[in-house]
Amino acid sequence: MAMALLEIRNLSKTFPLGESVFGGGASGEVRAVDDVSFDIEKGETLGLVGESGSGKSTLGRLVLRLIEPSAGSIRYEGRDLLAASHGEMRRLRRDMQIIFQDPFGSLDPRMRVEEIVAEPLVIHEKLSREARRARVAELLRAVGLDESARTRFAHEFSGGQRQRIGIARALALRPKFIVADEPVSALDVSVGAQIVNLLAQLQREFGLTYLFISHSMPVVRYLSTRIAVMYRGKLVEIGKTEEITERPTQAYTRNLLEATPRISA
Ligand SMILES: Nc1ncnc2c1ncn2[C@@H]1O[C@H](COP(=O)(O)OP(=O)(O)OP(=O)(O)O)[C@@H](O)[C@H]1O
Ligand SMILES: [Mg+2]
Repeated sequence: MAMALLEIRNLSKTFPLGESVFGGGASGEVRAVDDVSFDIEKGETLGLVGESGSGKSTLGRLVLRLIEPSAGSIRYEGRDLLAASHGEMRRLRRDMQIIFQDPFGSLDPRMRVEEIVAEPLVIHEKLSREARRARVAELLRAVGLDESARTRFAHEFSGGQRQRIGIARALALRPKFIVADEPVSALDVSVGAQIVNLLAQLQREFGLTYLFISHSMPVVRYLSTRIAVMYRGKLVEIGKTEEITERPTQAYTRNLLEATPRISA
């Protein structure tokens, strides 16, 4: 069998418990991710579900090495990600991007779309102004935005269009792997469905691999090749989408499935 794109082994992340607002008692640490092992296969969408606080976002950030694990290992294309040097990591970061629920939470609203999308190119690639502009136009087209969006400001766009801009930015460096952390949770169902379809289309077009984090079972079921279920930092179940949705082995998974209505895609 071909080598997995990512091999995650015994990954853990503990956070120190802060001062308890309830006073007294609380001490020690939170096991946000607790001894988790799984593979992500090249070209698949691995859906990651679980209730709020189960450790999904922490796991997504660990896999990208945006935060350092307390224990465990991550191999990307066979290479030990945690042993990568600063320079090597810089190169690997181009391959691995993240899409957030709110792509502009951390961005200056006074930036033009062009600057937002081109920023990774400015940091990582030495392109002429013309080449950069052409690349931005190509990216905007890829996510279904008109080229005239280029000179406008992010705040002028609707939520769905903003998510498209965020996706264009994530694609700027031609990544192979994308963690999508609740990318449609803040959107209306119909707008969210358009973004989900865009992600599926981009996956085919660019051969992307996704770790798709979502609260929404219907969305995860529609998009995912396999589904992984987290509960209190543990990976309690992982398998093909059909197996997990039709024959879940864990009561917890059954509850998640029952809590959300089926939709036909
Ligand atoms: N930086 C941090 N410092 C301390 N605790 C944290 C930190 N990040 C996450 N946690 C804790 O780790 C646990 C897992 O959080 P995480 O955000 O990964 O869950 P999640 O599954 O993404 O939840 P949600 O569905 O609400 O986004 C929670 O108990 C959370 O409070
Ligand atoms: Mg989260």
